[in-house]
Amino acid sequence: MKQTDYLVLVNQLNALPNDWYETLETVRIRNRYDEELVLEKRTAAAYRKLKAELEENGIVAEPDSALRSIEVQQKIMDEFIREYGESYAKKTVAPPGYSEHHTGLAVDLFLVIDGNDSRRNEDLVQHPELWSAIHKRLSKYGFILRYPYGKEHITGYGYEPWHIRYLNDSAKAEEIMRRNISLEEYLGAAAESFVSIDYGTSRKYSEEELYEATVPIRCRFAADVSCTLEKLTYSGDRFEIRKMR
Ligand code: DAL
Ligand code: ZN
Repeated sequence: MKQTDYLVLVNQLNALPNDWYETLETVRIRNRYDEELVLEKRTAAAYRKLKAELEENGIVAEPDSALRSIEVQQKIMDEFIREYGESYAKKTVAPPGYSEHHTGLAVDLFLVIDGNDSRRNEDLVQHPELWSAIHKRLSKYGFILRYPYGKEHITGYGYEPWHIRYLNDSAKAEEIMRRNISLEEYLGAAAESFVSIDYGTSRKYSEEELYEATVPIRCRFAADVSCTLEKLTYSGDRFEIRKMR
């Protein structure tokens, strides 16, 4: 019988496998607000153990989002576009069908600090010390941080301290966390690359905007381990070119 593949890679280039739900055993869990969430069975058991250890250390990290259907993912995408604009939404929310949340192996956490919850992305990132205390305990229970800092050109997403992913293997999780690599790199599905970016001069775009534009290009090349992207150059605004003629 086919088994759940706990090392499955779901990202912008790899959709959820068609037969994924044939083997998936799920359970329901509830958070402190009595919201019901669905998780893969072993993921839920491991999460409960992680949560208990965190609470012993004074940290309350509740599940905010777990398994999501394609429809729910689309709803989240639409909400993010409305609230934050298309650019932020696309670098934060996976396209429906391409989210790790469809697997049931991923959990988004939210923090409860002095009895008050912190659920919005912009509030969550204000607590680096709590996240580092959480991240250092993940691998013991078979979890990894799925979107590490500075790996957006490989994972396709910016740093998400709240999104953890279960691998059902604490040794593999420990190696990934120790080496500070992405799941893509661990699986050999992408390689780290050091692309030199020449921003040229632009009156139209800031360096930050140009950098953002390089992310999907670098991501696609990082996933093609048979070639290396070395340099990206912005050749200038068309306005400047016309002026020079
Ligand atoms: N935030 C992650 C990338 C997702 O939407 O699956
Ligand atoms: Zn997530």
